[in-house]
Amino acid sequence: MTDLSLSDPAALLRWYVDAGVDECIGEAPVDRFKAPPPAPARAPAATPAPSIAARAAIAAPAAIPVITPAAFGPHPADTATSVAELKAMVEAFDGCGLKQFASKTVFADGNPSARVMFVGEAPGADEDRQGLPFVGVSGKLLDRMIESIGLSRAESAYITNVVFWRPPGNRAPTDEEIAVCMPFVRRHIELVNPAVLVFVGGLSAKTLLGTTLGITRVRGKWHEYSSPGLAAPVPAMPLFHPAYLLRSPQQKRFAWRDLLSIRERLDQAKA
Ligand code: URA
Repeated sequence: MTDLSLSDPAALLRWYVDAGVDECIGEAPVDRFKAPPPAPARAPAATPAPSIAARAAIAAPAAIPVITPAAFGPHPADTATSVAELKAMVEAFDGCGLKQFASKTVFADGNPSARVMFVGEAPGADEDRQGLPFVGVSGKLLDRMIESIGLSRAESAYITNVVFWRPPGNRAPTDEEIAVCMPFVRRHIELVNPAVLVFVGGLSAKTLLGTTLGITRVRGKWHEYSSPGLAAPVPAMPLFHPAYLLRSPQQKRFAWRDLLSIRERLDQAKA
């Protein structure tokens, strides 16, 4: 039987790796079973309790944008007038639980003036380390896919994701995590206003098309993406995720067809 005591740290480490742990996030261990220190005793209030409005002001620091459902007015992201302003807002935003586990905010890469915008799913470990989307193994394949139709990440493509922080252990982001990022993603697309949108992977396609259909059903067809801040709907093509293509290379021929269709559409769309 494996010795899981500290007398054989290598066996303990192997056990963690087999259980799916792929990263150390702290130098010192944290004892999560330890009772928290007792809260300091509160001095009795000398002044009358603040009004509800005053307490709300204390509970919501001005620097943190508050999520408001559309019915209650515009989201703070809607006030961003440039990609740089939106990036600063996303970096200051503490409303998505994923942020507490991530090392970096992964906002975007490439040229924000590009005519084609790729929207992927969620950052992975490499993206979390570098703070840039699609820089790991699947990102290398995405770069080759982009280059296969005469584009380049640095000059003629712009890349982002539907969430800005890495989900721990590379799990899929939850509906709630996607929902809190969505007003920023929507504004991001409005500010870039690309000629063509590419939804990279099923999660991105489902989220931005508002459909429950899987990627196999929606890829290969042109869709329209609309939002209130866009003057006109943007043609959108869902594409197989490069991580899926690495696992199922026989599907690359379908991705190639979709890439050719994107190239054709870009050639037709006015510059
Ligand atoms: N997969 C994604 O969908 N996005 C990334 O940034 C990296 C991998």
